[in-house]
Parts: sequence; structure tokens; C-alpha cells
Amino acid sequence: MPVPDPVIASFDLALVGFGRVGRRFATLLSERRDQLAQDYHLAYRVVGIATGRHGTAMHRDGLDLTRAVEIIEAGGNLGLMHDDGAGSAPTDTYSFIERFTDISDHGPRVVVETTTLDVTTGEPAVGHVRAAIAAGAHVVTANKGPAAFAYHALRGAADAADVRFLTEGAVLDGIPVLNLVRETLPTVMIKGFRGVINSTTNYMLTAMEQGGSAADALAAMQVQGVAEADASLDVKGWDAAAKTAVLVNVLMDGRTTLHAIARTGISGLTGEIVRNAVRRGRRIKLVASASRSGDTISGAVAPVELDADDPLARLDGQANALVLVTDLLGEIVITQRHGGLTQTAFALLADLITIRRAVPETALHQNPSRPCHQ
Ligand SMILES: NC(=O)c1ccc[n+]([C@@H]2O[C@H](COP(=O)([O-])OP(=O)(O)OC[C@H]3O[C@@H](n4cnc5c(N)ncnc54)[C@H](OP(=O)(O)O)[C@@H]3O)[C@@H](O)[C@H]2O)c1
Repeated sequence: MPVPDPVIASFDLALVGFGRVGRRFATLLSERRDQLAQDYHLAYRVVGIATGRHGTAMHRDGLDLTRAVEIIEAGGNLGLMHDDGAGSAPTDTYSFIERFTDISDHGPRVVVETTTLDVTTGEPAVGHVRAAIAAGAHVVTANKGPAAFAYHALRGAADAADVRFLTEGAVLDGIPVLNLVRETLPTVMIKGFRGVINSTTNYMLTAMEQGGSAADALAAMQVQGVAEADASLDVKGWDAAAKTAVLVNVLMDGRTTLHAIARTGISGLTGEIVRNAVRRGRRIKLVASASRSGDTISGAVAPVELDADDPLARLDGQANALVLVTDLLGEIVITQRHGGLTQTAFALLADLITIRRAVPETALHQNPSRPCHQ
């Protein structure tokens, strides 16, 4: 008997946020288009893009992503690309998400959330994720806010709506951490962790050890798009604290928020202090950690002077690592030598494929014959 052709799932995507990560995700989608179709039976159209200050565009037949990237990088406004057939351009992201479900009339829908991190509330990302789930869309996000402030509420809402809420890109960029534990460590309990999980501060500390200036190193990370839009979030430890809250909530089933993580950044460290540690055969790293004591989980971010043979002490430049302390497997060390935009965009792509794998073939219609501009 002939084997039937696999059903190509046609996903409609809406991008909320189209900054450095959002645009790299868009170009990565195009680069991997053939592989997504051949190996994962996944086709996609981006039917909407919303930004903060650079306009919004929607198109039932899919937006031209190359043009969208060019417009933003030239400082233009995406409103230029909006198709009036999709109604007037939504004026806020909540109506954008609602409209997404109107103009996307087939296939699974996915909201890709990459807006700026707000460390005080996790908004607007928490609200975007909530709105997407309420509209019956899956959500993938690299924003730490949703899982750092409202992970269990959002997971519960997603489960009830039979959609997925995935956030691999929130920690260690593209290296699987959340997915690794969920997919490959069944029954294993994560008892705690220690990690260097902020690339910008590790790059700064490495430069300071070598006699360089912290300000120059930070500027280099800003040029590469690795530092947060507000770089004080890196230097003062907010970014690492947000990631710590994500790891506690997702991997340890904790109920914390970023504000419960004890936090000290690297602003108090001088070149002299970090070089003194090196002279003693040690290194100072910004270490994020969490441990369990009875029912309580406590998390912290602080500079720590480490023995030279500690795996975290061996990390140079932008490298990150996480030591997971488990009940069955002892310690597992996960290292990312090179983090950045491509790695973070990959995490979003990997989450998209996770959703594709979870969609039963019976839930898919054959792809309608509407044109696609991508
Ligand atoms: N950069 C990295 O290497 C990296 C790594 C891991 C995770 N992340 C996380 O990924 C997210 C995006 O980072 P990024 O570097 O791409 O930031 P970015 O370049 O500053 O881009 C943020 C995007 O979000 C848009 N935006 C902000 N507020 C919005 C709102 N209320 N509604 C709609 N759009 C809004 C911005 O639009 P306008 O520009 O028009 O205002 C911009 O398009 C952040 O949460 C960050 O923490 C980044």
C-alpha cells in the first residue's frame, strides 16, 4: 500500500515585539523554511507584527518578513505594510492579539512574544501571554517576565485552553534547559542549581580581569545586542534574578517571583578586586542559585569568589553554564560557550517545533490555497 503524504501543518504566527530577537527569529524562520517543511511537516505564515513605537501590520496572506526587517532597520514604520483588507491597524497589542484570531482562519495559531522585559511587573508580556491563551493561541516567548511572575497561572490557563505556553529562550538563550528537563529527565527532581546565566556581566568580569574597562565591555555587549535594552538590568543583577525565578518556577515547581530573589549585581566590583581574586588562583562570577529546604525554595544572585576548579569558574566572555543538582543523576552541568541573538531565536524555533509535534494530525486541515507572501 502506498504511504500517504504527510500532512503539512500550516501555522499562522503573530509576532508581538520585533526588536533584535524578533527580527532574528524572522530571518531564522526563512533560513530554515525548507527544513521545517521536509523534516517537521511545518509551514508557516506571519500574519501580524506588533511593535511599541514602529507600528503594526497585519495581512491575511502573510507578511513579507524580509521587507518588515528592512523597514525596521531603516527606522521606518510597519504600518506601511498593513493590508486594509485586514481592517484598520490595531492601535494596541491586546486588540492586535484579538484581531489575530479573526484574520487567521485555519491551522494552529502561535503568538511569538519578544517584547522588552519589565522587571517590576513582568508586563506587558504577562498580559500578552494571557491574552493569547484566552484567544486560543499557543505562545512562545523569550521574555523572562511571564515565567518569572506568573508561570503557574499561565500554565494552568494554557492547559485549560489546550494550548502550549513555552519559554525556552528565557534562560541560557538557545541551549535547552527547560526543554531538556521536561523532555528527557522524567521523574528526576531538581533539588537546586547554581549558574552563571548572564552573558553581559560575565563578559564584563572577564574584561576587567584582563585590565579592560567595565564600561567598554558593556558597550561591546550593547553593540552585539546581547545586553538588555536597559543595560542596568544586567549590571544590577535583575536579568539574572528574573532567570533565577524562571528556573525556580519551571524546574523546581516553585511559586516565586523575581522580587523574592535576593539580588546583588556587579556594580560594587572594581578591576582591582577581580584581579586580586585571579592572583589568588580564584575567579569572581555573578552566580545565580537556588536550593530547597523543606517546602521552602530560596533563590539568590550575587558575586561569588569561586575555586579555580569550579565549572562556573572556567567560563570566559559570554559563556554561561548551569549546574543542576538532581536527586537521581547527581549534578548535570550545561554550558553555553556562545550566546546571543541566533541562539535565542533558535529557542523560539525549537518551541515552535515542540508545538508542531504536539498537534495531532487529525486536528490539521490540508493547507488551503491562499497565497503566501513569504
Ligand atoms: N537580546 C538577547 O540576546 C536576548 C536573549 C534572551 C532573551 N531576550 C529577551 O527577549 C526579549 C526581546 O529582546 P530584544 O533584545 O529583542 O529587545 P529589543 O530589541 O528592545 O526589542 C523589543 C521589541 O519589543 C517591542 N515592544 C516593546 N514594548 C512593547 C509593547 N508594549 N507592545 C508591543 N511591542 C513592544 C519593541 O518595539 P519598539 O522598538 O517599536 O518600541 C521591540 O520591537 C526581551 O524580553 C529580552 O529580555 C533577549
